[in-house]
Amino acid sequence: MPRVFVSDFIPGDLLEPLETLAEVEVWAGKERVPRETLLERLSGCDGWLSMLSDTIDVELLDSTPTLRVISQMSVGVDNIDVDACRDHGISVGHTPDVLTETTADTAFALIGAAVRRLPEGEAIVKSGAWGPWDPWHFLSGDLHGATLGIVGMGRIGQAIARRARGFNMPVLYTARTTKDVPGAIRLDLVGLLERADIVVIAVPLAVETRGMIGRAELGMMKETAILVNIARGPIVDADALVEALAKGEIGGAALDVTDPEPLPPDHPLLQFPNCLVVPHIGSATIPARRAMASLAVANLVAFLRREPMPAWLDGSAEQPFGDYPASSSPSESSDS
Ligand code: DGY
Repeated sequence: MPRVFVSDFIPGDLLEPLETLAEVEVWAGKERVPRETLLERLSGCDGWLSMLSDTIDVELLDSTPTLRVISQMSVGVDNIDVDACRDHGISVGHTPDVLTETTADTAFALIGAAVRRLPEGEAIVKSGAWGPWDPWHFLSGDLHGATLGIVGMGRIGQAIARRARGFNMPVLYTARTTKDVPGAIRLDLVGLLERADIVVIAVPLAVETRGMIGRAELGMMKETAILVNIARGPIVDADALVEALAKGEIGGAALDVTDPEPLPPDHPLLQFPNCLVVPHIGSATIPARRAMASLAVANLVAFLRREPMPAWLDGSAEQPFGDYPASSSPSESSDS
């Protein structure tokens, strides 16, 4: 039977379809699987259900020659050297679409919280400093009608734009090509940064997006504008953001992702009352995480059945692969 390693807990009912086709080992440790242990556990494996927190590089692929398929439980694959996977003959799957709406909900929750200063308000209540109602106390900008700039108009960007319509927000966006998003205006990054009241980062992390929001870009934003990052931490230069917040160059930030992750408790970003940080929870709802796990399993099941994976990652080794040893094919092993 083919062997599959799973890097983290997956609910048993979702794992069942895979268990009928493969010998499955699930990492049961409380901590992330240490690198050395990971290499040991992957030894002799045909498949791997990986997590965003696994680093999948040439060194790992060189030491796992039997590996033919990796299915990662996330849409983002910036932890995977996809070219190296292709060169090693490994097909990769991931979990797009099933988390789009949930992640857009998180973006909107962050936008609303940051624009209306909810964390600052809560801190005042909890500190006992809540005084009598004051018509001029604790003011903010409005959420409705604010101009929303979405950097990256992919699936998640478009889901954010749909929500913005309900708040009568003019939407600006950057993208390589014009998208069919009613009412939204495509601009270059500079134009968007100069005009938006809220800037949401929704591009994948890649060579060209790493550090794309640095000192210069933060300097182009309005002094009252809010920066929201629901994509990947390294897209924003953390030092530049600290500086911009310290100098009051922008109105605030709301970050679901940071660089590094996790952010140490003494990190300078955490000193600003107008910087809301949450621990990479964009898709962290029960339905979304179950759908992601289910799709990650479905990718492996399809691959082991030599069927196209429902979410194969373009750029990885093509399917179906021809050199899977007949003696360990799923159908033969289940007969034995
Ligand atoms: C992803 O899937 O890439 C997210 O960042 C985790 O929800």
